[in-house]
Amino acid sequence: MTGKNPTTDSYSTHPTYPEGMVTVIDHPLVQHKLTLLRNQETGSKKFRELVKELAIFEGYEATRHLQLEPITVQTPICETVAHTLKGRKVAIVPILRAGLGMVEGILELIPAARVGHVGLYRDPATHHPVEYYCKLPEDIDAREVLIVDPMLATGGSASAAIEFLKAEGVASERIRLLVILAAPEGIQAVVETDPKVHIYTCAIDERLNEHAYIIPGLGDAGDRIFGTK
Ligand code: PRP
Ligand code: URA
Repeated sequence: MTGKNPTTDSYSTHPTYPEGMVTVIDHPLVQHKLTLLRNQETGSKKFRELVKELAIFEGYEATRHLQLEPITVQTPICETVAHTLKGRKVAIVPILRAGLGMVEGILELIPAARVGHVGLYRDPATHHPVEYYCKLPEDIDAREVLIVDPMLATGGSASAAIEFLKAEGVASERIRLLVILAAPEGIQAVVETDPKVHIYTCAIDERLNEHAYIIPGLGDAGDRIFGTK
């Protein structure tokens, strides 16, 4: 590897993470936008734009596995064989609220995707997720599922969302978790919930503080997206 990246080094090859199941998107544009996102001076409008842009980069990476099939197409010059998406359709599942900020970006990549919603908030005292809403597409078990949420802290919310999807019949291999920032503790928790769920993140930060916030992190993603604090 040339050029050490302080935000990604060592974690993407962390010995306790299953091989190839944690992808850190260390593209320079992603890292630049992430730095703007972390900055406390960045206001809600800009924050929302950045979350959407980072979701597009993540969606691009997290859909590399989609299958193609050949079709014949007539160009203005001649007939040729080109490729089109084949097989399973996609569902995007934001974890409310903050996950909503990532939906639009992914829909720009996959306009035909269905959107399911899982409502979870962290109890401020226990930091455990509390469910308040769940509405998924009827055929969720036949889709590739992208769970989106900017923050993976203790991993409680993501693990609960993964369990909801599995209870609806979605196979682990069909679930991908797209976050913008992850704590090592959160990744570990998701791996323990299900090592077959592929995680995508723009960075893996140092640790959690005593309130289970990511250090250095970017603060409360939901409040910054929606301007509620
Ligand atoms: C945040 C974030 C995740 C969760 C991560 O949501 O958007 O859903 O915390 O923490 P965890 O990994 O420890 O579960 P929050 O509960 O603050 O709700 P909000 O999106 O409505 O602000
Ligand atoms: N949720 C957030 O929004 N930020 C954190 O740092 C942890 C959980």
